[in-house]
Amino acid sequence: MNDPKVKIMSVVGARPNFTKIAPLARELGRFPEQFEHILVHTGQHYDATMSDSFFRDLSIPRPDVDLEIGSGSHAEQVGRTMIAFEKIVQERRPDWVIVVGDVNATCACSITAKKEHVKLAHIEAGLRSFDLDMPEEINRMVTDRLSDLLFTTDALADANLLKEGVPESRIRRVGNIMIDTLEQQRARAAALDPRTICEAQVLPGLCAPVPPLRDNAFAVMTLHRPSNVDHAEVMKPLVEFLTQDAAPLMPLIWPVHPRTRKQLEAHGLWQDLVSCPGLILTQPLGYHDMLRLTMGARVMFTDSGGLQEECCVLGTPCLTLRWNTERPVTLAEHGGVSVLVGNDIQQVRAEFRKAAKRPRVEHRPLLWDGRTAERIVACLREITQG
Ligand code: UD1
Repeated sequence: MNDPKVKIMSVVGARPNFTKIAPLARELGRFPEQFEHILVHTGQHYDATMSDSFFRDLSIPRPDVDLEIGSGSHAEQVGRTMIAFEKIVQERRPDWVIVVGDVNATCACSITAKKEHVKLAHIEAGLRSFDLDMPEEINRMVTDRLSDLLFTTDALADANLLKEGVPESRIRRVGNIMIDTLEQQRARAAALDPRTICEAQVLPGLCAPVPPLRDNAFAVMTLHRPSNVDHAEVMKPLVEFLTQDAAPLMPLIWPVHPRTRKQLEAHGLWQDLVSCPGLILTQPLGYHDMLRLTMGARVMFTDSGGLQEECCVLGTPCLTLRWNTERPVTLAEHGGVSVLVGNDIQQVRAEFRKAAKRPRVEHRPLLWDGRTAERIVACLREITQG
């Protein structure tokens, strides 16, 4: 007898995927008579701090399948994921594969799904930096080109897709699913204390006591893009700015990505950071800890896409350490709080001074209301019932 349920296989691989899949898994779980949800983790991120803690903290169901791909070059990650995912698709025969975001897992599983003639949906479609030096831009373009259903965050993303010739009937503007997670979790994050977070997470071996951290009187920094961290000539002036200009002005908390730490050590810059008073280096933080720090930060320095969006909704002035963004809706010229400063230290310094004086102004783009997963699942119900 045929199973009347629609089989949805969703994919996560790396840290930014987890906050997007949590609300989807919860919402699909409300319709057990209609959907069977199979969650696949490709294992691109595997450290406890980069992966496990998010499953626990966001109550994401245990993955049904873990492909255990691990680290490697892009071709290795994408190739290994495609080979392993193909077997799973052939075994489980999903009706739909749903991918989120723009990491290597997103692109690898999209190609595999389509070659197996499985319908493909992409959550966070249509974002474009127009910078093909970013691996994520390639992942986004390939995924969107192959998707049957494209769930977008905002009108600028719709416009990108229409310009590329995607038929309007495939595009559904649903808002930002990551903001669903933010809204579901913000009360729990608000109850945390920044200093206690830092005391618990400060890197072993750093012995300076964590100073008192009052809201709006500390800065936060994250950095992991290859274009920033892989080049000593980019990192050196940035480290000088952080240690000589920023940290002396206000405590600066920096949860260090594993890739970034390796590169800082390789460039011989790690000791400068470790010995800088006012600079608090921590492990990669869990979701609630990071959200709490973002809520209280006077200024955020980041090259992360997700943080640009979270800062926008929380009103935290955000200096984006990139020359472009695929998320222009978060920029000041669109009403947001983010300013592109690239890696030009003069510009970083000037914008830091301005941002440190800027009041918090929350900006919530249309449909970034915490109900995106509901809209996505309503759409899937309509399409799969029809
Ligand atoms: C990936 C995504 C990026 C996303 C970022 C968030 C791609 C192309 N890039 O970049 O879009 O913003 O995740 O973190 O998919 N490592 C560990 N432990 C882990 C994971 C990684 O130590 O759990 C180290 C490994 O040395 C690895 C390096 O970090 O080689 C980079 O990891 P990788 O998954 O290749 O890319 P990210 O830089 O994390």
